[in-house]
Amino acid sequence: MDISIMETTAQAIVAPGKGILAADESTGTIKKRFDTINLASTEETRRSYRELLFTTPKVEKYVSGVILYDETIRQKGSNGKTLPQILADSGQIPGIKVDKGAKSLAGHPGELVTEGLDGLRERLAEYKELGARFAKWRAVIDIGPGIPTRACIQSNAHALARYAALCQEADIVPIVEPEVLMDGGHDIAACAEVTEAALRAVFAELYEAGVILEGALLKPNMVLPGKKSPKQASPEEIAEATVRILRRAVPAALPGIVFLSGGQTPQQATENLNAMNALGDHPWELSFSYGRALQEPVLKTWLGQADNAEAAQRAYLHRAFCNGEARYGRYTPAMEDQQVSLA
Ligand code: 13P
Repeated sequence: MDISIMETTAQAIVAPGKGILAADESTGTIKKRFDTINLASTEETRRSYRELLFTTPKVEKYVSGVILYDETIRQKGSNGKTLPQILADSGQIPGIKVDKGAKSLAGHPGELVTEGLDGLRERLAEYKELGARFAKWRAVIDIGPGIPTRACIQSNAHALARYAALCQEADIVPIVEPEVLMDGGHDIAACAEVTEAALRAVFAELYEAGVILEGALLKPNMVLPGKKSPKQASPEEIAEATVRILRRAVPAALPGIVFLSGGQTPQQATENLNAMNALGDHPWELSFSYGRALQEPVLKTWLGQADNAEAAQRAYLHRAFCNGEARYGRYTPAMEDQQVSLA
């Protein structure tokens, strides 16, 4: 284990003005996304969509790293190079989703625990050969009547810590993702309470597992009211609530926090990240690791048609640019109408 390799990678991922594209949808999830544009999900449509994203000119100014799925890390671009090689050539660090999904937690109806530790050491060695320098493992915590239980929070935190330790053994930066879902009608205070409990459990387990925080990243949810809550919140309220619990629960040794978008609209995800960075200096970089919030406009523009590829790349570059500005706290809604050029 060489901690300096991981420190360098983690710092490059959260370099000023940059963040992560999460393009690691499993085959089932990408099918759901393609269904929204009536596109069949085949190995070739998935490959060409990911190639469109990864070869977008100039996007490396705003996107430092890309999370891939097992299928994608093995696929090739039109130039014959592998997709991770194409990313690395343009200065985007390839990463890999290594969990095997959230499964029912025995004895706890309605709750999930993420699986995938068996054989993980060997899979990490292979992914490293294929070019991965960081990894992701997502735990899912739902808020509802009587949940989450302590058992759910604890089991997921323990698995995250075992995953992170295995990553670091292989000099791969672990992104630790305990996601508190924004589904449901709970208020922002409930989200804050559960998120703080989940983060405290995660960092206690990371410590027990010997994970070195300087070479790791956290991917949390923002603190938001549930989607069905009658009382929605402003970006300033969300920023304040989120930063308050992060300061309590996340050690300053961690280089960065890369938020998931979790079902926010692309503009909301940008505005909320911007509001947090506008609050001033923080002990960690506050950045993005967005899936839907970066890709929704791309899919809607592309529609699976080659003729739309350039416009789709412009839509992606534009979203990446807006989030790059949000990294400095200088995004304004007027930027939504700003033109970006691929040239
Ligand atoms: P969303 O930004 O769409 O929530 O996806 C990020 C991610 O990778 C979740 O694991």
